Amino acid sequence: MTRPAPKSFHVKSFGCQMNVYDGERMAELLGAQGMAAASEADAELVILNTCHIREKAAEKVYSDIGRQRREDGTRPMIAVAGCVAQAEGTEVTARTKDVDIVVGPQAYHELPQMIARAAKGERVHDLDLPGLDKFSKLPARRKTGPTAFLTVQEGCDKFCTYCVVPYTRGGEISRSYAAIVDEAKSLVDAGAKEITLLGQNVNAWEEDGKGLEHLIRALDAISGLQRIRYTTSHPNDMTDGLIRAHADVEKLMPFLHLPVQSGNDRVLKAMNRKHTADSYLKIIDRVRAARPDIALSGDFIVGFPGETEAEFEDTLRLIEAANYAMAFSFKYSPRPGTPAATMDAQIAPEVMDDRLQRLQGLLNTQQLAFNQASLGKRIQVLLERKGKLDGQKIGKSPWLQSVHIIADAQIGDMVEVDLVSAGPNSLAGTLVSKDVNAA
Ligand code: 5AD
Ligand code: SF4
Repeated sequence: MTRPAPKSFHVKSFGCQMNVYDGERMAELLGAQGMAAASEADAELVILNTCHIREKAAEKVYSDIGRQRREDGTRPMIAVAGCVAQAEGTEVTARTKDVDIVVGPQAYHELPQMIARAAKGERVHDLDLPGLDKFSKLPARRKTGPTAFLTVQEGCDKFCTYCVVPYTRGGEISRSYAAIVDEAKSLVDAGAKEITLLGQNVNAWEEDGKGLEHLIRALDAISGLQRIRYTTSHPNDMTDGLIRAHADVEKLMPFLHLPVQSGNDRVLKAMNRKHTADSYLKIIDRVRAARPDIALSGDFIVGFPGETEAEFEDTLRLIEAANYAMAFSFKYSPRPGTPAATMDAQIAPEVMDDRLQRLQGLLNTQQLAFNQASLGKRIQVLLERKGKLDGQKIGKSPWLQSVHIIADAQIGDMVEVDLVSAGPNSLAGTLVSKDVNAA
């Protein structure tokens, strides 16, 4: 079907922060073409920026496509972007007529041309994985706001046996130091006070043998930038240099997301993680020696094929030993094309449910204890958004906790707050001083 070229768009991102970043860059690209951002219900082009990491996330796309039909029977132009596009490719257009464009995570800089072809009635696919070409072809950053994501590395060479990422995002590639520092400066010029460096294996970033700490130190030198974070890291890339940065870069926030997945060495080996429970705990010890107040976060998978009750209990023991401030945990989900999907002894759903519940029970207890231990502290909070209550603002502590205050302060202010109450998911504070200039 031919149709007028769309004048408005809506990007709906699912999945990880890297997808959020890609979604922002797509919006900036289309904005630079003169298209207007619109709500999902009104937009003439809807981009579903999808995630393939677990089956549930991937299936969601198809129900979402169906939901785009409008009351008058028409539908917007629909693009499927992101990791489902990459992994399923032409299957997406074979499965539903309602998709005009399928564009992978490395090809979205081509969207304007693809939209023009789709307007002529073509069904367009672009699933090339041409390295990091897109970054040099995208318009300069236009995003404003106190916090920003910045992708510095993409892809994965680790091939954990459960994971689709090496297939959807390709091998590990690092963006250049110069391009990243430029982008960071333009984000800070546009008002960013906090930058989170992103990568599927962000601590595998390297240029000429220099690691992520090199980038962190470069960002440290940007005046106006007050906070630096990075995610997600692999234990095997936690170098001495990066750990040292936690000790001496004041702007580097005391938070580390370091997925471990399991606390049992046989399971870790079957997952091809290339670390043991003990080597992981030793890394945590070194990080804590460098930065004693660091908040630790992790990812866990329960019910990996063959996981026994005793092996699962090793994971609970590792959690006790590591002590997490927060964590994400999932039931194992077989992904097509990954080695684990065809392993023997897939675990029954009710066993997974039971294990997930016990694991999350323990993690929730640790998270509440971590939050309660913050009570009485005077801390800095970067205000990110308005809350539901009158005058309420919500921001983040250095340890990535959500902090609510009711105060006459602006979004984007770095305020000083006394923490007065703590729940499992957030803290409340009272304002001590407005817009302090942190280091
Ligand atoms: N099943 C369940 N969880 C998974 N993850 C990755 N692949 C799978 C899978 N097949 C989880 C891991 C990873 C996080 C991003 O998602 O815990 O760290
Ligand atoms: Fe999902 Fe992984 Fe793709 Fe992120 S990189 S959107 S987590 S499949």
